[in-house]
Amino acid sequence: MDRLVIQGGHPLRGRIRVSGAKNAALPCLAAALLTPDEVVLSNLPAVADIRTMVKVLQALGTEATLEPEGEGFELTARLTCAGSEDPKAPYELVKTMRASILVLGPLLARFGKATVSLPGGCAIGARPVNLHLEALERMGATIEISHGYIHASVKDHLKAIDHTFEKVSVGATENILMAAALVDGTTVLRNAAQEPEIGDLAQLLVKMGAQIEGLGTGILSVTGAGRLHGCEHAVIPDRIEAGTYLCAVAAACGDVVLDRCEPEHLRSLLDLLERTGCVITEREGQGGRQVRIQREVGQKLRSKDATTLPFPGFPTDLQAQVMAVMTQACGISVINEGIFENRFQHAMELERLGANLRTDGHTAIVAGPAELTGCTVMATDLRASAALVIAGLVAKGETIVDRIYHLDRGYAGLEKKLQGVGAHIERVGGGRV
Ligand code: UD1
Repeated sequence: MDRLVIQGGHPLRGRIRVSGAKNAALPCLAAALLTPDEVVLSNLPAVADIRTMVKVLQALGTEATLEPEGEGFELTARLTCAGSEDPKAPYELVKTMRASILVLGPLLARFGKATVSLPGGCAIGARPVNLHLEALERMGATIEISHGYIHASVKDHLKAIDHTFEKVSVGATENILMAAALVDGTTVLRNAAQEPEIGDLAQLLVKMGAQIEGLGTGILSVTGAGRLHGCEHAVIPDRIEAGTYLCAVAAACGDVVLDRCEPEHLRSLLDLLERTGCVITEREGQGGRQVRIQREVGQKLRSKDATTLPFPGFPTDLQAQVMAVMTQACGISVINEGIFENRFQHAMELERLGANLRTDGHTAIVAGPAELTGCTVMATDLRASAALVIAGLVAKGETIVDRIYHLDRGYAGLEKKLQGVGAHIERVGGGRV
């Protein structure tokens, strides 16, 4: 099993090119199930979750190729889904990636039936799929759960609905948006998630022939087309990857420009980092917008509080990384996790590196600045792993981050991008450390 070996204490200087957004790419890949035509998706990040989703689509009768772009941190997928008699997303694939549930809506809308393994819980919480299933039932689907699988079918076709989600859910909004794009009539989704990744999926569905109104609001109105067609689409930059590198510079000091970064998708983090004392500059660059972050060596950071909420609130996927930053800030920082019930597992590993913090339920209290010292830490989930890397970049001496298969699910070339800005970080095969 690979590990990352980090020698901390080196400021980061240079440029990092942000890859495409994993969480936008996954629903866009699932949307290829909605048409028999070819869908070409570019700027997909070269990460394990993208390969897993392509395997899920292949298991469902899709012809798919994945080709590297440029330096190999991004991929282009060509997908043609003729379909299968009995579409089934097997447990072996779904258990490795919960986002596989996103195939349920498109399969039901196009083929009238689908069997998808229940994803089960995961390290950060229970993560049920009741919101997805309730909305599909209201669209006319019959859903049974047996032997660990969701068996869904519909007589004739799904129907358009006016639906209010009981709770804001990114995945449920995406699943129903995709199903509605192939349904005759206008579906209205209220209390819909507003994450930028939903906007990107909607742009793809519009290119395929659906009409969608209300983008960027909590009420989406989708007028479906009986048949959707193929198209080409490049996914948006990854705000969480960009945010992770911004946090790395805030914690370890330096001066880094992020190329192809959309600041409007990162507003809550940029505001927070500015309030800590980092200097943030935004400008137009070649091939996209740029964000520059500066924190001089020795410059003190002010501690700030953060509460994670649905977009435009502070993203839960950056909570762990911000906690790593706050270990270096002067004073007390209160971090509230408002989305998931069990998302502080990085806290104990940060403590092992010397962080001064306490967690109680959904709240973490961080006192800084703490002098971090390197040791071996274990990654427990994708973003927790990123927080440990950030802490390792700060810590004196050597930090070894174990179980980095979590990182490989969501970060394209993390250690190479960090090496490019001067970090002393290396990937080592399990047997060699
Ligand atoms: C997506 C992101 C994930 C991010 C999360 C919240 C992808 C592939 N993943 O996950 O990185 O952390 O949004 O921004 O895009 N819930 C229910 N019932 C449901 C569905 C969700 O109770 O049917 C709850 C969840 O347990 C959680 C909250 O709703 O507490 C939000 O989850 P949701 O927005 O659905 O997250 P995902 O789409 O799984």
